[in-house]
Amino acid sequence: MQLRHLTLLAAAKAVAAQAPTLAEVLAAQSETLSSLTTWVQSQQAVYSLLAGAEDITILAPSNKAFEELANSPLASQLTSDPNFLTAFLSYHVLNGTYYASNLTSSPQLVLPTLLDLANYENVTGPQKVISRVSDGGVSFLSGGGSLSTVQTANVNYTGGTIHVIDSVLNLPANVTNTLLAANLTATLGAVRQAGVEDVLNTTPDLTVFVPTNDAFAAIGNLVSGLTAEQLGGILGYHVIPGKVVYSSDIADGSVATLEGSNLNIRVQDGNVFVNSAKVIAADILIANGVAHVIDGVLNPDNASAQPNPTASTASPAFSGASSTDGVPFTSGIAVPPAATASATSSGSSPVSTEPVAGGQGKVAAIGAAALFGAGAVALMNQL
Ligand SMILES: *[C@@H]1O[C@H](CO)[C@@H](O)[C@H](O)[C@H]1NC(C)=O
Ligand SMILES: *[C@@H]1O[C@H](CO)[C@@H](O)[C@H](O)[C@H]1NC(C)=O
Ligand SMILES: *[C@@H]1O[C@H](CO)[C@@H](O)[C@H](O)[C@H]1NC(C)=O
Ligand SMILES: *[C@@H]1O[C@H](CO)[C@@H](O)[C@H](O)[C@H]1NC(C)=O
Ligand SMILES: *[C@@H]1O[C@H](CO)[C@@H](O)[C@H](O)[C@H]1NC(C)=O
Ligand SMILES: *[C@@H]1O[C@H](CO)[C@@H](O)[C@H](O)[C@H]1NC(C)=O
Ligand SMILES: *[C@@H]1O[C@H](CO)[C@@H](O)[C@H](O)[C@H]1NC(C)=O
Repeated sequence: MQLRHLTLLAAAKAVAAQAPTLAEVLAAQSETLSSLTTWVQSQQAVYSLLAGAEDITILAPSNKAFEELANSPLASQLTSDPNFLTAFLSYHVLNGTYYASNLTSSPQLVLPTLLDLANYENVTGPQKVISRVSDGGVSFLSGGGSLSTVQTANVNYTGGTIHVIDSVLNLPANVTNTLLAANLTATLGAVRQAGVEDVLNTTPDLTVFVPTNDAFAAIGNLVSGLTAEQLGGILGYHVIPGKVVYSSDIADGSVATLEGSNLNIRVQDGNVFVNSAKVIAADILIANGVAHVIDGVLNPDNASAQPNPTASTASPAFSGASSTDGVPFTSGIAVPPAATASATSSGSSPVSTEPVAGGQGKVAAIGAAALFGAGAVALMNQL
């Protein structure tokens, strides 16, 4: 009896030793996490939430990750704006305990964070981060295409687990700032010329296909002949309203757009094609959904355009298209150095993310009926 009692006591002690509190684990990891600890403790509400929360995963940027921010616009915003700091920290916490083994079991997972504040995101439910597996390790994709890699996984504590990451997560920005940071200026210029910038920035739950500057240049001879209405129609054909479709949810099928006509999605050999255009950078998280960069401008009057998987870039989906000097729609759009710096602050370029993990683990085809929400109707009226 007494022996059993002692054994239980020892077991209880062993459990306690394996699961320190948040305060204990942060103190023990101060060589790596003292910067994060200082930021978190500067926001009493955030600290209390984290210390009391159960079943969470903290994506903890290392001291070096914070050092890299020094003197950046992001660092000054964190210092000067407590609400932004709260949003930023909340975005670094996953709702659920995701050990490394949970994350390596799928090539890509879309994970809910604790960021659910209307001023900082416009997706139904909380804002997301995406985990990706490469070379057996785990990375997290955040706003604008930033990739943060796990350095130390499974630092367990009473409320869940902590993964130390090598760069901070980027809070997904609005469409305007995302396009500027990625130098996708032709799309931004076209959006402005068609008068749909505000609506694209504020309508919740969008999936946006964004043509590269080269894609617009390839139809350069045609764009000057377009009315604002025609341009609005073409741009509306690039937007799936009311549904945030991450690459892991993309499958073959026909999907309704804001413009009204359908797009044809095909997954071939791990590449995703939208009509004839290829997705060349997937899952650029934006405040109100997700963007995927494509190598051609989509033509609502040419839904039957077929992909050519062996071509290095799609041939234009507009008959009679040819390129002109310069990139259309870009005059007067300056990429601010600040925006570029913040998009690349974690060292990854938005238009060079990893190959699209298309088609894998796909659950169901995208149903057209599910795609129209209240926001879409408002947007439709303006397009
Ligand atoms: C975590 O998700 C659950 C289920 O969606 C939700 O009820 C809960 O409020 C979330 N927790 C936090 C801390 O946001
Ligand atoms: C993690 O994996 C374990 C074991 O398969 C499972 O029981 C648990 O539900 C998973 N956790 C999450 C958050 O998916
Ligand atoms: C979300 O949309 C509202 C308008 O519906 C807008 O005021 C707000 O700025 C948007 N938030 C973000 C982060 O873009
Ligand atoms: C944390 O817990 C998980 C799940 O029980 C386990 O796989 C992992 O090894 C633990 N981490 C450490 C450092 O012990
Ligand atoms: C986009 O977001 C930035 C930063 O929050 C903000 O200053 C800007 O006004 C927003 N742009 C639009 C068009 O909503
Ligand atoms: C942005 O794109 C334009 C046109 O495609 C190109 O000339 C310019 O060098 C790019 N700027 C940056 C900062 O990449
Ligand atoms: C449709 O796109 C194809 C290229 O995929 C192009 O050859 C054809 O001319 C286009 N048709 C129209 C009507 O624009």
